[in-house]
Amino acid sequence: MCGIVGAVAERNITAVLVEGLKRLEYRGYDSAGVALLTEQGALDRRRRVGKVSELQAALQAEPLAGRLGIAHTRWATHGAPSERNAHPHFSGQELAVVHNGIIENHEELREQLKGLGYVFTSDTDTETIVHLLEHTLKSYADLADALKVAVKQLHGAYGLAVISARQPDRLLAARSGSPLVIGLGLGENFLASDQLALRQVTDRFMYLEEGDIAEIKRDSVQIWTVDGEAVERESVQYHEGAEAADKGEYRHFMLKEIFEQPRVVQRTLEGRLGSDHVLVQAFGPQAAELFAKVKNVQIVACGTSYHAGMVARYWLEELAGIPCQIEVASEFRYRKVVVQPDTLFVSISQSGETADTLAALRNAKDKAPGQGGYLASLVICNVGTSSLVRESDLCLLTQAGPEIGVASTKAFTTQLVGLMLLTLALGQVRGTLDKALEAELVDELRRLPTRLGEALAMDKTVEKISELFAEKHHSLFLGRGAQYPVAMEGALKLKEISYIHAEAYPAGELKHGPLALVDSDMPVVTVAPNNELLEKLKSNLQEVRARGGELIVFADQQAGMRNGEGTHVVNMPHIHDLLAPILYTIPLQLLSYHVAVLKGTDVDQPRNLAKSVTVE
Ligand code: F6R
Repeated sequence: MCGIVGAVAERNITAVLVEGLKRLEYRGYDSAGVALLTEQGALDRRRRVGKVSELQAALQAEPLAGRLGIAHTRWATHGAPSERNAHPHFSGQELAVVHNGIIENHEELREQLKGLGYVFTSDTDTETIVHLLEHTLKSYADLADALKVAVKQLHGAYGLAVISARQPDRLLAARSGSPLVIGLGLGENFLASDQLALRQVTDRFMYLEEGDIAEIKRDSVQIWTVDGEAVERESVQYHEGAEAADKGEYRHFMLKEIFEQPRVVQRTLEGRLGSDHVLVQAFGPQAAELFAKVKNVQIVACGTSYHAGMVARYWLEELAGIPCQIEVASEFRYRKVVVQPDTLFVSISQSGETADTLAALRNAKDKAPGQGGYLASLVICNVGTSSLVRESDLCLLTQAGPEIGVASTKAFTTQLVGLMLLTLALGQVRGTLDKALEAELVDELRRLPTRLGEALAMDKTVEKISELFAEKHHSLFLGRGAQYPVAMEGALKLKEISYIHAEAYPAGELKHGPLALVDSDMPVVTVAPNNELLEKLKSNLQEVRARGGELIVFADQQAGMRNGEGTHVVNMPHIHDLLAPILYTIPLQLLSYHVAVLKGTDVDQPRNLAKSVTVE
């Protein structure tokens, strides 16, 4: 999704801005641009469709230097990806703006501004902001004052940065619905939509809150709330290792992140397990008291995080005996929901900034507990400083570290670990979980990183299997029970990065329709742990073979499944059935990765997709 970088310094900051954009490339975008206030005191810009490298080439051909500037990667929402729609947008030669989010009343504003004589040069909603601000400056000379007034007329979501040729010592920013962070330097300060963009220049950050407006100068930062009241925001030191932004020995971030899973799962477990039980306080000091009251769970998430929630529903009902509902956030947020008494609202998110999930949480908090509202909110999240974490009552941080590949991998498995911990904690506090089973699962969780390492060791076998997909355009993924969401996640990964159409079904649904699709051109991928559903699954697989379908089966080594004509079996390490969804995710990630490499797609930045979807 769109990215913002800004800087005000005593040195030329072109390289800082471009490097910041490069660090945001993983979020997905289709054009990039930079605007600087030149030594001559004029605003100038370069914009290019395509990668940041195209922008870099343009800057080499026609250099641009300055000490105040803003830059942007755009993921098109209003207007096609083109140079004229790329940010920064100008109003005359005085003002430049970059913007993340969507201005919902842009059409109305555009008409008003056209009536005032402003000429639009793009199809974007963003251009209305810069002309509106220019118009407001006619009544309020100070840029910060004008911005405070102008943003009141914007409906929708924005994280924006502004520079002016007339007030060359400052960078202005405003946040509502799209995250922004200020990077604090020595005699220079920065702005970005994600602190990763600024890790090259600082490790001290100040996070803007909803409604904040900031004036950033070389040696000072001033922040106001939406009501114009001056506020202080805490500055925090960011400790994440610099290695996150580096692919190391791996060809792609996605592969690196797949192979990081044993380590990050280990980190997610650290400090959260007692000898034979989960430490409930890992969810916060008030968790034990709250968990004791929980009678229902409502999970809300999007995409891969939604699939993690689907697995958790099986766990919560089977292990903790708690009724659980799950829904994608984009639907949940617009539905009139009947809330059962004492329901815990659980959101799941890698980024903690997904617009739909955040809106769902805000809706959920609208009503008080006991008055049709939720008992409390809890988030399983990977970013401790994110909006979802700040706005939820309780949180469990998955310790996956920054995930750069657009396709989520390590975030998913660490979310599953977090959700298993939540299940055990709820079952323990409510007394609905058998103590011996909890001890057994705690033991199994400790062994999980080793099991994941064993699954990763099958990489070469999976790579060979991926060749079966080289000429294919469609595929089916099957699973039963908690493996059904794993199949859904496998299908999502394959579509996202290889662009092969993949659909997931509960294996039992096959004969109710999808079986009609099966022929030798339709590979069928199945996950088959050794559980009470295995025999039923085997029958479903026979149905596929009988129609000439080619089977790829990831099966427990004790499941008694053999290679045969049109059947490719990959033996998986044995694991406790309840943890199997975590283990069986690994070969499906590897499969989609190798198929994408064979197909020559852009693995880390698949077309049309964005990391952290901060617009609806
Ligand atoms: C798929 C993927 C997306 C995200 C979804 C939610 O590989 O990454 O489906 O899972 O956009 O994002 P978060 O978890 O950041 O809320």
